[in-house]
Amino acid sequence: MRSKGYSGLVAHEAIHEDLVEQLKELEKKYDAGTMTLSIMTMHFLKDWLTDHIRTVDARFFDFLKQNEQS
Ligand SMILES: [Fe+2]
Repeated sequence: MRSKGYSGLVAHEAIHEDLVEQLKELEKKYDAGTMTLSIMTMHFLKDWLTDHIRTVDARFFDFLKQNEQS
């Protein structure tokens, strides 16, 4: 994204950093024994990844297509 000059890079990085922070919180709870790796957690991760790839990552693919044509 950086090498292609993607204008949405900073926002995209922030979204990934937000996920990392959420995962760190889940890890803390898991390590503390206050949470088990539940179906809900697995659904959260699956939904996050699926939604992210289909929407946020797709914007980068659109950006690449537009820049290839110009
Ligand atoms: Fe991404």
